[in-house]
Amino acid sequence: MEAIILAGGFGTRLRPLTYTRAKSLLPILNEPMINYIVRSLPKEVNKVILAVNYRKKQIEEFFETHDCGKEIIVNDEPTPLGTGGAVKFAENHLTGKFFVLNSDIIASLNLEEMISFHEKKNSASTISLWPVENVSEFGVADVKDDGNIVGFVEKPKQEDAPSNLINAGAYLLEPEILDYIEKGRLISMEKEIFPRIIRDTNRFFGFRFSGYWMDVGRMSSYIDVHKFLMKRKNLQNYIGKNCKIKGKLLDSCLGENVEIRKNTELNSTVVYNNSIIEDNVTIANSVIGENCFIETGSKIMNSVVGDKECIQPNSVLNNHLRWTQSIPNGYPKKQIGNVIGE
Ligand code: GDD
Ligand code: MG
Repeated sequence: MEAIILAGGFGTRLRPLTYTRAKSLLPILNEPMINYIVRSLPKEVNKVILAVNYRKKQIEEFFETHDCGKEIIVNDEPTPLGTGGAVKFAENHLTGKFFVLNSDIIASLNLEEMISFHEKKNSASTISLWPVENVSEFGVADVKDDGNIVGFVEKPKQEDAPSNLINAGAYLLEPEILDYIEKGRLISMEKEIFPRIIRDTNRFFGFRFSGYWMDVGRMSSYIDVHKFLMKRKNLQNYIGKNCKIKGKLLDSCLGENVEIRKNTELNSTVVYNNSIIEDNVTIANSVIGENCFIETGSKIMNSVVGDKECIQPNSVLNNHLRWTQSIPNGYPKKQIGNVIGE
């Protein structure tokens, strides 16, 4: 059985960190987020199709150097085809029912249980569902008590939403679903294909699960997921190899070879490999990229500093995305696929 992992997004909401790396390789507790998805795959899945385009080389390299025990196919879209187009583009590699998984989710979803549910319902298309308070940034399902989905709307206004149950970003699909997707164009699974399946079949089901679900595609949730996972591990901080720490840390995560000098305080902050934070610096609710140099006396709050940036002494950054280098060619100004209010 195959699983397609959708890993081709630009991750515009996580820039400037995604100017230099694929979104799905952004570390969570120092491990690429895509690895959490790969580890959650059940034994039935023997082949993983990575649907990639932007920064595909990095993703390919990661799997070349980290054996996950499954066959890996890197399926490179010539241009971004959207969540639906990417699935159609993987058609030749599929042999039966298959999973489609967003790569920016950390959840306790049990895919084995999802297969059982799908089979019991004789479903053509099963999507995982999770309840949230504010649905407007997600796809929302209109679900009957038996799990049958009779309506789906991507990023509705809160008042127009049919329920509080959102698409949690994991699908189990029968091959017949591929007939609903046209070849070779940018096409959104959520906006175009799901409504078509609902219209034409009554075999579209929602699978609810318990535990936790977090979307890590936004900066605030990216920091929150670190805190959440540290709490589960009973850790106050998470520290990579060879770090030198003289300052104070709370709810923070450091990559490898990070230096935190004296009288410096970090709170709810993630620092990537090889960065140096000089003395008398305060950082809160922020992410500092790789090979950064944060000079003495600086205050950084609710901000993101991209790789290889240097912050001058006594700087104040508040709600700031720091990037002084060139933006990669073709990187979009805003989210292109499943945009809110499009
Ligand atoms: N291969 C490929 N090609 N992958 C893509 C493309 C593309 O053109 N565009 C996006 N992706 C990948 C992203 O990397 C991500 O893993 C997944 O598809 C979903 O795209 P996002 O851009 O993250 O969508 P979203 O977060 O706004 O909304 C989606 O996720 C929500 C749950 O977090 C939708 O599926 C919503 O319905 C859902 O509620
Ligand atoms: Mg997302």
